[in-house]
Amino acid sequence: MSLFKRKKRDSDGFWETGLSAESVQPNTPYPLQIKGEPLIVTRIDGEIFAFSAICPHAAANLNDGTLHRGRITCPLHEWKFDIRTGRTLWPEDETCRLRRFEVRVGALRGEESAEIKIKLQ
Ligand code: FES
Repeated sequence: MSLFKRKKRDSDGFWETGLSAESVQPNTPYPLQIKGEPLIVTRIDGEIFAFSAICPHAAANLNDGTLHRGRITCPLHEWKFDIRTGRTLWPEDETCRLRRFEVRVGALRGEESAEIKIKLQ
């Protein structure tokens, strides 16, 4: 698959990523960009999650943060977010949430591996 392949959106609104589900390792961030939206994809307890790479507190780049046990810690002010729910874990803040995106895993055409697709909202 070409690195510069143009991403397409299916009829359900999910965008191709070119990233196979098998290649995504636990607690490892995979930076992506779809339609100018910087995202991070990772695997937690066997499930794949996608979330915004922009910190909801003050827009720092979460690609420079620390990912550990389903939590991402922002590099700027060290706020911690639960990737599964988007909730802010530290400090307590019910209004500030990490943007998460719906993930679908489908078969790549002509290949045995399954491609991760993401729906932008
Ligand atoms: S910008 Fe991320 S915690 Fe402040």
